[in-house]
Amino acid sequence: MASIGQSFPRVDARGKVTGEAAYSGDLSMHGMLYAKILFAERPHARVLSVNTGKAEGAPGVIAIYTSKDVPVNEYGLQIPDQPVLCGPGSPKPGTDIVRFVGDQVAVVIAQNEAAAQAALKLIEVEYEDLPIVSDPIEAMKPDAPRVHPELGDSNICVHYKIRKGDVEAGFAQADIIVEGEYRTPAQEHAYLQPEAGLSYMDDEGRVTIACGGQWTHADRDSIAHALNLPVERIRVIYPAIGGAFGGREDLSVQIVIALATWKLQRPVKIIWSRRESIIGHAKRHPAILRAKWGATRDGKLVAAQNEIIADGGAYMYTSNKVLGNSAITCTGPYFIPNVKADIYGVYTDNIPGAAFRGFGAPQALFMAEGQMNKLAERLGMDPVEFRLKNALRDGLTLDVGTPLPGPVSVPQVIEAAAKKFGWVAVNKSPTRARRPNHLARGIGFAAGFKNIGFSFGYQENCWAKVEIHGNAEIEKVIVHHAGAEVGQGAHTVMAQMAAETLGVSARLVTILTPDTATQGNSGSVSASRMTFMAGNAIKGAAEAALKKWRAEEHPAIAEYKYLAPKTTHFDEETGYSTPNFSYAYSAQAVEVEVDTETGQVRLVRVTSADDVGKAINPMLVEGQIEGAVVQAQGYAITEEFKTKDGRVLTDQLSTYLLPTILDIPEKVESVIVEVAEPNGPWGARGLGELPFLPLVPAIAAAIHDATGVWINEFPFTPERVLRALGKIS
Ligand code: MOS
Repeated sequence: MASIGQSFPRVDARGKVTGEAAYSGDLSMHGMLYAKILFAERPHARVLSVNTGKAEGAPGVIAIYTSKDVPVNEYGLQIPDQPVLCGPGSPKPGTDIVRFVGDQVAVVIAQNEAAAQAALKLIEVEYEDLPIVSDPIEAMKPDAPRVHPELGDSNICVHYKIRKGDVEAGFAQADIIVEGEYRTPAQEHAYLQPEAGLSYMDDEGRVTIACGGQWTHADRDSIAHALNLPVERIRVIYPAIGGAFGGREDLSVQIVIALATWKLQRPVKIIWSRRESIIGHAKRHPAILRAKWGATRDGKLVAAQNEIIADGGAYMYTSNKVLGNSAITCTGPYFIPNVKADIYGVYTDNIPGAAFRGFGAPQALFMAEGQMNKLAERLGMDPVEFRLKNALRDGLTLDVGTPLPGPVSVPQVIEAAAKKFGWVAVNKSPTRARRPNHLARGIGFAAGFKNIGFSFGYQENCWAKVEIHGNAEIEKVIVHHAGAEVGQGAHTVMAQMAAETLGVSARLVTILTPDTATQGNSGSVSASRMTFMAGNAIKGAAEAALKKWRAEEHPAIAEYKYLAPKTTHFDEETGYSTPNFSYAYSAQAVEVEVDTETGQVRLVRVTSADDVGKAINPMLVEGQIEGAVVQAQGYAITEEFKTKDGRVLTDQLSTYLLPTILDIPEKVESVIVEVAEPNGPWGARGLGELPFLPLVPAIAAAIHDATGVWINEFPFTPERVLRALGKIS
């Protein structure tokens, strides 16, 4: 009874289609109170005092908590550099400073939401404004005001160095050198379910938080730390989540509602408005990227020198990890013998930069693939042919000095995308026909790659438990696994993988809700890791349970913890490392139409070839590809996250424009490439982030093909396109 490779229907489809599924915003409980958060709404200031007296006397108000009420007033996934509530009264230095508009100052708990909302206005906060640090380049200067004076003498919070070979010697061999400066914007995750949650005391006296996230156990540990409670006293449950894309890796509402429930011993609910969500959670890092790359006349890359400056915003979040990925991917999926790269993350008073589908690779690849397309043009070589000439292959080293774990399928995805798209060589002839009218069509190509799993020296691990029930036959299988179903279909492929191992129908498998009270640590739904990691964990647990079942132990129950191959962190001076145990590869060809009168860019057609190792569920693979393409289309063309001096100008979805069904391409063709990953379950690699990666540089190349201009900064809005065409100044 094969389950692997079947387009099994989503196990969560019915509930989500009928509305039965309970998202965090749908949860309610008898006697629950409502929370509202007072945001700083200013980018940089010292909180001199917070007077809650008037607000506490307002109708319906039960309690108001400020910095002095938080037992350990700090949190952060990588370093605890963010106060839970900013203000005076905490022993830790720097907790009285707000560093971005979404910093939280107080939380009001009231009988209902309206009462909580009304009370916010009665809280009197006295601020002393501090100089706003909003430009990462200015922020790097030695005399710039410090965002975190308590953390040392610089706003530079991340610096990775790659030193491979000798770039000067490499440039000396080059016949063609292309230099470029690129800029990439912030991006809002815009998940359908804004931040929301319900906290309550469970029947075993645990502070329980039902709230969407990406890693139950990491959420639990951060909440326990801030409340100064043992982790066993905190329970995190994931209801239906409603999208995450990296934006739920970091905490938002969890600590304050847990704090209120702990203090009041009552259920507390919160739902953020869209505006609160937009100002309150992190964004994709905006970046400034500078590149100088050289190639020989016959099209061999010989040297690359890169610099990336990423706006880390007010707090670290996962910037150090995101930028590790930028470092790995900053020369694209190509072999270059001589590389020098410096990757910086900088604290500013902007919204924190953090995880977002692609995790540092989309920015780096916009530069790398832009350089590739420009070099191909200068060489008069077809960009596909130029890529194949330089593609990473088995045994070739990354910029960090070690080869990729094989098999490396860069040539396969490039060839598959080109073939399916019907790619015709461009750059070969200098007089490629352009349409005579104002609707100019062009085609573009780009590739990308992404690590699967956490790595850089972290021992990747994933836990699962499988129960087999029945008499003579297996009648029911229960899988305990804390991996989040964020909407990507993880629980469906988990059911398929359990079923395949046990030789039963996936219909017999139930995947339980992620819950730290009953489950081990399965790790984060991020880094495109869940199919790979959960598959290995569930396979291990199911095999162990099956052995017991066959020995007549009924029910048969077994746990398993999968440990992935070991990795190493960057050498500080050279970046030398074996940073990841697995990678996946993607290539895309696109066709665009540029209206040279209005500057509008229309994405007409996309072909995406992605090596997933093994498609556990081909329909879900196609869904991921189509979703990633549209999300990257928004990043490329319509989504312009505007800020001024740290304040957000596009704080609603009416001003921050997501693509709608009217904008999506006429055709997205998915080409599923399956080059098995030896350590992956049934050969699977990972996919979640992959099809996001090449789209923006492919669109940039297609705009160039259509119009003759390179646009090095996106989104490719009408204004930016017309300016590039010299039609407006
Ligand atoms: Mo992801 S961007 O690794 O949640």
